Amino acid sequence: MLNLGVIGCGSIGRDHVERLTTTVAGGRVAGVFDVVPEACRKAVADFGLDAEIFASAEAMIDSPKIDALVVCSKNDVHLAPLLHAIKIGKNVLTEKPLTTSAAESRQVVEAELAVGRRFVQVGFNRRFDRGYLQLKAIADSGQIGALLLANCRHYNAAPATSYYRTDDVILDTFIHEIDVMHWLFGENYASIEMKLGRRNSLNPAPDLDEPQLAIIELASGALITVEININCQYGYDIQCRLVGERGIASLPDVATPEVRLDGRIYHAIDPSWTSRFVDAYNSEFLAFIHATVDKTPLAGPSAWDGYVASIAGEAAVTSLHERRKVDIVIPDKPALYA
Ligand SMILES: NC(=O)c1ccc[n+]([C@@H]2O[C@H](COP(=O)([O-])OP(=O)(O)OC[C@H]3O[C@@H](n4cnc5c(N)ncnc54)[C@H](O)[C@@H]3O)[C@@H](O)[C@H]2O)c1
Repeated sequence: MLNLGVIGCGSIGRDHVERLTTTVAGGRVAGVFDVVPEACRKAVADFGLDAEIFASAEAMIDSPKIDALVVCSKNDVHLAPLLHAIKIGKNVLTEKPLTTSAAESRQVVEAELAVGRRFVQVGFNRRFDRGYLQLKAIADSGQIGALLLANCRHYNAAPATSYYRTDDVILDTFIHEIDVMHWLFGENYASIEMKLGRRNSLNPAPDLDEPQLAIIELASGALITVEININCQYGYDIQCRLVGERGIASLPDVATPEVRLDGRIYHAIDPSWTSRFVDAYNSEFLAFIHATVDKTPLAGPSAWDGYVASIAGEAAVTSLHERRKVDIVIPDKPALYA
């Protein structure tokens, strides 16, 4: 049984604690830390954990009672626990984004390169989603030919938090497509251009400019467009369509029952990522736990993938602020991440 220490017991921290307690085998929550101690006490009480509440992330990472870490704290405080865990040789499953800047993400890569082994799996959970895995298999098989275009939608009913701002739309939300499309296409990005759409009058936040439209150009000349619309009101709606030379492959909609009621036929849409990607989250944890217990290389999205996403995310933010197309320059991938 892998003893996991969870850093950050907010929204998704609690989701992950719950899945580790009720659903995912092979790991247990043995420690928790949050800068808000009440969040730890609540998680321990609500999920009946037999877990130590640590006074700091460092103390938990250092503890011999903890085998591996799960980072679920705010985006801008991922770096320190990641570097500390790598330094003392413990694996970490960190929520996305790896960090909030390319320079910080590079530090994580450099720390792993210095030791010569991967310690970090990034929570780009879509790579474990059945539908995305099916799309990847179709793209890699060559059956629809080389990929020419892709169109994606990332729609949320409402922002994740009350402090969501314009750049978060890129670095917190769109970062999922930045990673998963890079993985699906299997080639580097060349440039990105961000555009702001007409403001939704139902968007209550003055500092949150969206919807946003991304146009990504790949090294081959292929083009990806992504609509990010996080005040869509009606649900959590994720779509992706790959256009190849001979055919099109689309992400399947999640199957929900067809309901005939009150003169309508309809299918429910997931309200949030929690339910939409529940199986993917469970799978990413299983992969992390098995690799850590078996001492085999981590298979999920790597620190390098997180770094690439940070480079592209930063370029997207620059594009939005400066209203211009911005080049994306990805360094050569080190052999560790081949
Ligand atoms: N993979 C996904 O689909 C997905 C979905 C939601 C959130 N996330 C990611 O999960 C992380 C947490 O998001 P959330 O929605 O749970 O946010 P949240 O605001 O609900 O929770 C964050 C928690 O971190 C704690 N915290 C802040 N600074 C800390 C520090 N230095 N050390 C320890 N704890 C600290 C806060 O007190 C809070 O309890 C973010 O990185 C976010 O991007 C990923």
